[in-house]
Amino acid sequence: MSIRLFSSAILTHLRLHKISVFAPVRYSRGFAPFGKPGSGNYGRTLGKQTVGLMELLRDKILNRVKSIPFNAKDSVFSIGDYGAADGSASVPFIGQLVANLKDQHGPEAQFQVIYEDTEVNDFNSLFKRVSGIIPDPQVYLPDMDNVYVLASGTDFYKQCVPSNSMHFIMCMISLHWLSETPVKYNNSLYKYPESSAEEKIALDRQAEIDLETFLLLRSREMKQGGLLIICAGCEINDMNTGEVKYLSDTLLTFLTEIWKEYRDSGKISNDEFLNTNLSLCFRNMDQLRKPFDDKLSAVSKSGLCLLSAETVIIPDIVYTAWKDKKDKKGIDDREEFARLYVATHRNWGNHTFLNGLSDSRSQEEKEKIVDGFYDKVEKRMSKINPEEIKDDFRFICLVVTKK
Ligand SMILES: C[S@@+](CC[C@H](N)C(=O)[O-])C[C@H]1O[C@@H](n2cnc3c(N)ncnc32)[C@H](O)[C@@H]1O
Repeated sequence: MSIRLFSSAILTHLRLHKISVFAPVRYSRGFAPFGKPGSGNYGRTLGKQTVGLMELLRDKILNRVKSIPFNAKDSVFSIGDYGAADGSASVPFIGQLVANLKDQHGPEAQFQVIYEDTEVNDFNSLFKRVSGIIPDPQVYLPDMDNVYVLASGTDFYKQCVPSNSMHFIMCMISLHWLSETPVKYNNSLYKYPESSAEEKIALDRQAEIDLETFLLLRSREMKQGGLLIICAGCEINDMNTGEVKYLSDTLLTFLTEIWKEYRDSGKISNDEFLNTNLSLCFRNMDQLRKPFDDKLSAVSKSGLCLLSAETVIIPDIVYTAWKDKKDKKGIDDREEFARLYVATHRNWGNHTFLNGLSDSRSQEEKEKIVDGFYDKVEKRMSKINPEEIKDDFRFICLVVTKK
């Protein structure tokens, strides 16, 4: 497809889907990171969990990367980490990736690594991690010549880099965040089994539009023969029980029930409850495959082609640490479990609760309410057997190339 036709396909797509049938909803991406900027909070908490995903997929991806066309004489190999947070989860993988590519293409080959996230991301922590000021995990940059690190503070539902410039893009555990909140959930923060049909339809519709937008934009940015890796938090059917499970569903139920208690006791108003919506969607395999399986879709026509799609489950590290301590030392430390669990997940949830509160409240008052809320979640959790909370992390990983 020519660039002009391709641009017009994207514009038509965006224009077509702009009209919303629902009342305006407060937009709440989980993007405003929790914790002091520059403190490396993400990598100390959630990053410790998410790094496991890349470890699991590393060899398979490194193998695929070998066949990306690249001429070291007159080109720069461009790598993108989209939705990078503070870079902690991808640093070990990108170090290995660049080392392998240097072996393959020679020491003179040049590389640029573009870390992309929203404009309010903690890029200060990212550069501290990548340069080794925060030394954990071990970094690659100080030891390697010809590797240039850049950042893009651009929403990934927009074009982030020049067209036809990227050899490799990875987007780990970020694509479940939507470009907008599709609906005000009446009695929940995210889709519940008992959510209304309208709520479910609005969510699915937004998720479909956003996936297509994201893919068309990445397709435009990628070079022919380039590789795109997407791992997204997902929804799957539990083989044992037949139940539909999605990423962190036990925790989401917990958060919802306690936020409802806040509403019912008058700590927050009903409007504030209605304004607290997680702007995310855990898609299932069919939803993620659809733009590729449909050979007439704009995504397929743009040249993107699915090489593999698989479900990957990684163990919950907070639960594993609790169990190890219990089994090996005989200490059943449920308080520590609850503290670490909340610290890990507050990263992505905090902003949503703050955002739901009325602007008639001062920022200080909002923060006090949300601090109290998370304290309550932690206390409640510490009274429950972690076996009941344990939440393995479920992802769908797509490996995509551009023909
Ligand atoms: C759970 S973190 C994942 C971080 C890292 N990739 C990892 O594997 O640990 C999700 C990241 O997606 C980012 N994100 C969410 N929506 C985004 C958007 N529209 N554009 C760019 N980044 C976005 C968030 O800011 C956050 O840093």
